[in-house]
Amino acid sequence: MSPKHFLNFKDFSKEFLNSIIERGLELKSLKNLPKTLENKSLGLIFEKPSTRTRVSFEIGVQSLGGNSIFLSSSDLQISRGEPVSDTARVLSSMLDAVVIRTANHELLDIYSQNSSIPVINGLSNLYHPCQILADLMTFKECNGDSEISKVAWIGDSNNVCNSYIEAAEIFNFDLNIYCPKGFEPNPEIMNSKKNNVVLTETKKDALKDAKIVTTDVWTSMHSENQSSEKTNLFKGYSVDPACMELADNSAIFLHCLPAHRGEEISIDMLDHESSKVWIQAENRLHVQQALLETLLLT
Ligand code: CP
Ligand code: NVA
Repeated sequence: MSPKHFLNFKDFSKEFLNSIIERGLELKSLKNLPKTLENKSLGLIFEKPSTRTRVSFEIGVQSLGGNSIFLSSSDLQISRGEPVSDTARVLSSMLDAVVIRTANHELLDIYSQNSSIPVINGLSNLYHPCQILADLMTFKECNGDSEISKVAWIGDSNNVCNSYIEAAEIFNFDLNIYCPKGFEPNPEIMNSKKNNVVLTETKKDALKDAKIVTTDVWTSMHSENQSSEKTNLFKGYSVDPACMELADNSAIFLHCLPAHRGEEISIDMLDHESSKVWIQAENRLHVQQALLETLLLT
């Protein structure tokens, strides 16, 4: 049987993703975690820095009884030209699952095609699905069964935004994106979707009735060469407490972190009463434990 990979949202149903979120909430509520991943080994191949993704996966698997090994890609033979496909075949015989963080989504596709164990996207230049699982779990934790009707995305149309575009279709919510001209989402990702994803002309239009207001850094890890160009272009594409006044009155503010105060958010935004970013960051741990259980045990 071929393994289930978790590379983006579009391969999964709402029911499947909701069951992971429900299990994440259940695991979060437990005082003593079950040893469901005993004798399971998780590899983490990272080309890029990480705080949350690395720690949440490593501690996540260990606290369910399994173990983890961190593999900086610069230490692997991949960095000396060993084919990704060969690495995938070898590691499939030693590990039970792999998390990969890469600036080249194609590498994830090649790796997963040659892997007989589940491969998880721990962030690529195109998608960050684990982050959106934690965001959806956070909304559920803060709002119970009320549905997400609308999300406002302010700023760069990046990998995290792309995963929101996928989630909007699966979870059937409206997604308003307010971004500078020239920095719209990848047309292939936008065009394949229903028209519940809208680019708005103004920030006010994006925020109207939004239940989640969210943003991310103006410059992602795979596009650091655009940083100086963006500083001026992105002025105004930021979130501050005044934005929350324009959203639904129950709206929560989310940010995947790390954040740049004074750029995509005002200095007070992370600590604003609407901000759930610290819960959101913690939820990476619980929801990814649920994801690992689902991919490895079902
Ligand atoms: N949000 C997120 O993925 O954070 P890290 O880059 O620290 O893993
Ligand atoms: N868009 C950001 C997310 C970091 C978690 C990046 O790719 O750098």
